[in-house]
Amino acid sequence: MRYDQIDNSLFIENRKKFIAQMKPNTIAILTSNDVKHHNADDVMGFTQNNDLFYLSGIDQEDTILVLYPDALKKENKAMLFIKETSELIKIWDGEKLTKEQAENISGVSRVEWDKDFELFLQYMAFEADGFYLGHNEHAKRVTNNQETKQDRMIKWCKQKYPLHDYYRAAKITRDLRPVKSKIEYDLIQKASNISVNSFESVLKACKPGVKEYELEAELAYNLVKTGSSHHAFKPIIASGKNACALHYNTNDSVCNDGEMILLDFGICYGNYNSDTTRCFPVNGKFSERQAAVYSSVLHCLKEGSKMIKPGVLPSVYEKNMAGLVEAELIKLNLLNADDVAKQDPEKPLYKKYFMHGTAHYLGLDVHDVGLYSRPFEKGMVLTCEPGIYIPEEGIGCRLEDDYLITEDGNINLTAAMPIEIKDIEALMNN
Ligand code: GLY
Ligand code: MN
Ligand code: MN
Repeated sequence: MRYDQIDNSLFIENRKKFIAQMKPNTIAILTSNDVKHHNADDVMGFTQNNDLFYLSGIDQEDTILVLYPDALKKENKAMLFIKETSELIKIWDGEKLTKEQAENISGVSRVEWDKDFELFLQYMAFEADGFYLGHNEHAKRVTNNQETKQDRMIKWCKQKYPLHDYYRAAKITRDLRPVKSKIEYDLIQKASNISVNSFESVLKACKPGVKEYELEAELAYNLVKTGSSHHAFKPIIASGKNACALHYNTNDSVCNDGEMILLDFGICYGNYNSDTTRCFPVNGKFSERQAAVYSSVLHCLKEGSKMIKPGVLPSVYEKNMAGLVEAELIKLNLLNADDVAKQDPEKPLYKKYFMHGTAHYLGLDVHDVGLYSRPFEKGMVLTCEPGIYIPEEGIGCRLEDDYLITEDGNINLTAAMPIEIKDIEALMNN
């Protein structure tokens, strides 16, 4: 394991909270993700299913967690099924988790081999009235022909047990996962701290003529060196007008003298993510216009993030943020105040230069699960990421920090990452 083992009280508590929301006499079945293949026998790698991880801490393929809180036998209340290893697996891939290790990581005392899952379930299934099954319910999930292990479990279970009631495990986890416990926000803080060093390395490596991917290499070096699992998402290193494509990530252009770079990246550490954006001039000195746009976005970040506090509805926060950006666009002579006063509220003019939302939950997923109709609460971790994009001037600017909501406000978990113009210029020129 690259990171220090997470205290299993996290997973024990998470299971308690999940079970408290299950209907009487039901069984929850949570599965891992598949190892994804690309060509021939090569694999893209493995990323655990985050609902399974949240409830078990197991970061290995071919894992199934079964929770049956009303089971007659105590030992059937929680069962973990893990991949049975063999001499062949050991020779080719190395060690897999032993039952003892899996028990220690998860706090589940009954651990069995995955090959026995169907048999054990069969013994319990007809005592129960229904099943909770996992499914990816993210609104932006691309629906295509990639069948997941969860999809196969739903198909198999419904075919084998057609007359049971079925419920959505994701409805419970989307309620629980947005509010982080201390162990979780400490991990996000750790990921954030690592990202501060990454950013400073990028600033030092930046000079006219450098390729965007050479700056990406600084991020990759630092994340591997620190025992991070992987990038939180493919990093965006966008110079000049590339920064106006919101999800640009080919990172293959030359960074030219006079351009500004937008760097949006995150660290995944212990399966928890950071997500930050900074902008800086290729040559180490912001032009007057770049500084003006940057200062506008920084003002929106500083003012808008004050709204990330208990009781505020995300829609109200977004409306306020849009108002802040709109006012800055007028100051920057990108919008005319009279036109704004007369605009169709359904088609606000600011959308030409600012076209995305500016707060999302952050945790095991970068765009973490959770409803946006729910007011902000203590313990939630959210990003704040206003931006202004002016393709005709070759300037795209977004600034993004990560905030933990407290009793009456928030803590900026990424405050240590330089953001003031003078600090960025000083780091680039020393
Ligand atoms: N890079 C993804 C985001 O900031 O939400
Ligand atoms: Mn973000
Ligand atoms: Mn981001």
